[in-house]
Amino acid sequence: METFMEAQTYNYKVVRQFAVMTVVWGIVGMLVGVIAAAQLFWPTLNLSEIGPWFHFGRIRPLHTNAVIFAFGGCGLIGTSYYVVQRTCNARLFGGWLAAFTFWGWQAVILGAAISFPMGWTQGKEYAELEWPIDILITLVWVAYAVVFFGTIAKRKIKHIYVANWFYGGFILAVALLHIVNNLSLPVGAMKSYPVYSGAIDAMVQWWYGHNAVGFFLTAGFLGMMYYFVPKQAGRPVYSYRLSVVHFWALIFTYMWAGPHHLHYTALPDWTQSVGMVLSLILFAPSWGGMINGIMTLSGAWHKLRTDPILKFLIVSLSFYGMSTFEGPMMSIKTVNALSHYTDWTVGHVHAGALGWVGFVTIGSVYYMIPRLFGQKEMYSTKLIDAHFWIATIGVVLYIASMWIAGVMQGLMWGAMNADGTLTFAFVEGVKESMRFYVIRFAGGLLYLSGMCIMAYNVYRTIMNGKPVEAEIPALAETQHH
Ligand code: HEM
Ligand code: HEM
Repeated sequence: METFMEAQTYNYKVVRQFAVMTVVWGIVGMLVGVIAAAQLFWPTLNLSEIGPWFHFGRIRPLHTNAVIFAFGGCGLIGTSYYVVQRTCNARLFGGWLAAFTFWGWQAVILGAAISFPMGWTQGKEYAELEWPIDILITLVWVAYAVVFFGTIAKRKIKHIYVANWFYGGFILAVALLHIVNNLSLPVGAMKSYPVYSGAIDAMVQWWYGHNAVGFFLTAGFLGMMYYFVPKQAGRPVYSYRLSVVHFWALIFTYMWAGPHHLHYTALPDWTQSVGMVLSLILFAPSWGGMINGIMTLSGAWHKLRTDPILKFLIVSLSFYGMSTFEGPMMSIKTVNALSHYTDWTVGHVHAGALGWVGFVTIGSVYYMIPRLFGQKEMYSTKLIDAHFWIATIGVVLYIASMWIAGVMQGLMWGAMNADGTLTFAFVEGVKESMRFYVIRFAGGLLYLSGMCIMAYNVYRTIMNGKPVEAEIPALAETQHH
């Protein structure tokens, strides 16, 4: 049971735990990304002599799962707990359940860290984890949904702020995706087969895969955007009406776009075309949301000059705009014929991942940390500024090198001599790509160094402060959260 004191305060403890682990897992996941990047031009790093554990094929899913589910996941759950409490004027629902979601999620991450080097995998991208861990994820996710929606149900403010709609959509959609895509028959402790076969399995997988992008890597982070951008800018959302249209249009459209991952495959042709058309339509809600976020700065543009947290948040939206322009272009079948299988896709992914997801998370964590530890601001604003510039240069190096490498690869693979033979052997494309892999590695290293600066800044801020238990204000004071 909650004590009387607890009932009067927000549950910041669990937010603090998630916020700190966001930074920790960010560093771990990106370090693994940097190692994967290095392996591609320095194969010795696969450490083949000692065994298969650190091969690229095992390191890569370790990276993707660590950054998406550990870094991104902790950022999403942590911020959603902060936002839902503060916009509902209510302590998190469910008592110990919130703590269970924290420790359960860390256990899932630990399970992943062991699974991938061991080679235990379902072989489905972003759904690699085997069935016992999938069951744990389901339990944690149900608990998360109970805590989140329970808090909404006991809210003291009538209106449900739009950020909560995005977080709520993300929670429900991820539950659905996770369960449907992981239906499988276990044949051993860490081995199972999917209940689907052939093209249907591929279709379910990329329905999942694309909505992992749409709901895990986008809708949840839009929830972050709708709370932290107005807060940090000190301005209301540019258009509240647009944010509601944005929500419904986005969640409707994302669900149908998955087949653009399966162009020119055994999937029925019409399904591919539907995927393409709905991906093109997806441009509209994406840009509507991006513009809504950026225009929130109307009248506060000057703050960008002095406030590096705001820079992170606003530049994240620019990258969001960029990747959601690029994505619809890549979904056009003729463009995809060039881009698919190449590093262009990897460049697109990281424009979204480093530029959008990374920046909006970093900005939001910088916003929360001082407030969670009773400080006015972060230990050093200069260091946040340094982080911003180092990270920005890192992203640009990463994505520019991958674009050039990707287009080059696509053109080289497709080049033909007059007699119909291929102009280039595959290995020639690999050789030409090496210099771009080195540049990507440098960009990744910069981005990772930025995260280390952040960790130091967070550490100093925490040391200067102490955990606070913020009181839930009386209603009249806080009609505006
Ligand atoms: C220091 C930063 C990072 C570096 C150096 C890095 C590096 C890499 C490398 C080398 C790959 C494999 C590419 C290939 O197979 O050819 C990769 C894939 C991937 N990374 Fe990262 N990464 C970083 C940060 C992130 C972050 C923050 C996220 C997500 C929030 C992310 C999400 C992904 C995804 C989804 C893939 C799979 C891409 C695909 O299948 O097309 N990465 N990364
Ligand atoms: C309107 C929005 C978007 C559309 C229509 C879109 C479309 C696409 C297309 C066509 C591909 C290439 C598929 C292929 O050839 O295999 C792709 C790959 C990918 N995109 Fe996007 N994209 C969008 C936004 C984003 C954002 C914002 C992110 C990240 C935060 C992102 C993450 C990814 C990932 C991770 C992949 C690689 C999947 C894989 O092969 O493993 N996308 N996207």
